[in-house]
Amino acid sequence: MHPQGAPPKIALPGVKSLIAVASGKGGVGKSTVAANLALALHAQGAKVGLMDADIYGPSVPIMMGLGTVDTKTTMFPLEKYGLKLMSMGFVVNAEQAVIWRGPMVHKAVTQFLTDIDWGQLDYLVIDLPPGTGDAQLTLTQTAPLSGAVIVTTPQEVSLIDARKGLEMFRQVRVPILGIIENMSYFVGDDGKRYDIYGHGGGQKLATETGMTFLGAIPIDPRVAQCGDQGDPIVHRFPDTPVAKAYLALAGTIAQELKRAAGQAPPLPSVNL
Ligand SMILES: Nc1ncnc2c1ncn2[C@@H]1O[C@H](COP(=O)(O)OP(=O)(O)O)[C@@H](O)[C@H]1O
Ligand SMILES: [Mg+2]
Repeated sequence: MHPQGAPPKIALPGVKSLIAVASGKGGVGKSTVAANLALALHAQGAKVGLMDADIYGPSVPIMMGLGTVDTKTTMFPLEKYGLKLMSMGFVVNAEQAVIWRGPMVHKAVTQFLTDIDWGQLDYLVIDLPPGTGDAQLTLTQTAPLSGAVIVTTPQEVSLIDARKGLEMFRQVRVPILGIIENMSYFVGDDGKRYDIYGHGGGQKLATETGMTFLGAIPIDPRVAQCGDQGDPIVHRFPDTPVAKAYLALAGTIAQELKRAAGQAPPLPSVNL
């Protein structure tokens, strides 16, 4: 835990729900899930922001077809595909951020939440840095998170890391909305489903840990192509099985958020 006790939470009164997208390790598709989930929530009529808290490896600029901007003349957040966006990749080149140390990273992420006018949002989706180290812990303690989703792939090695992620959120008492299995199966041109990496790992992790299994996202080379070309699949190909899986996921997550809010401990009563 934080050495001097938990740092104070930042207040974000205009944002109804803050969703952290986390994973134990990198490369499981966390950033891709964060971006496409944000677009799926937006497609259902919500006002949505996407904040890239991955300072060392920002993905939002490339995925959204944006780059660095002139910070003197540009107002943040940026806007694209109907989403409000913030990323360190808008401000500095990737090479510059690499040399930053922990406290600077924490300051930058805190400023994303405090100095940027997010306006009124139904959801602010936060792409957390991978792993469960100090940076992640501090961020999960300072951001007023409504809940977290854990992204995993069907492989066991990634499940071990996902468990660490679950443990971190338990420590900081952020409700875990559930587990998403990414790159889960492949839908062939024949419409059949093929389990490439084995099946049910995310579901198994959910069952074992008592978490909700939120859904599975198929593997599709167009996901990577769309990401590299700056137009995520939910926006570019909304009729694909992947995009439909994201729309279903967005509905499930909205439900789980309501459920988590209902389960929040009552505020202490005040004697007037
Ligand atoms: N469902 C998917 N099908 C195919 N490729 C995917 C899928 N999800 C993610 N990818 C690709 O996997 C790579 C890693 O994804 P990324 O979101 O950057 O992972 P992370 O943020 O966890 O490091 C990217 O090239 C991305 O386009
Ligand atoms: Mg990433």
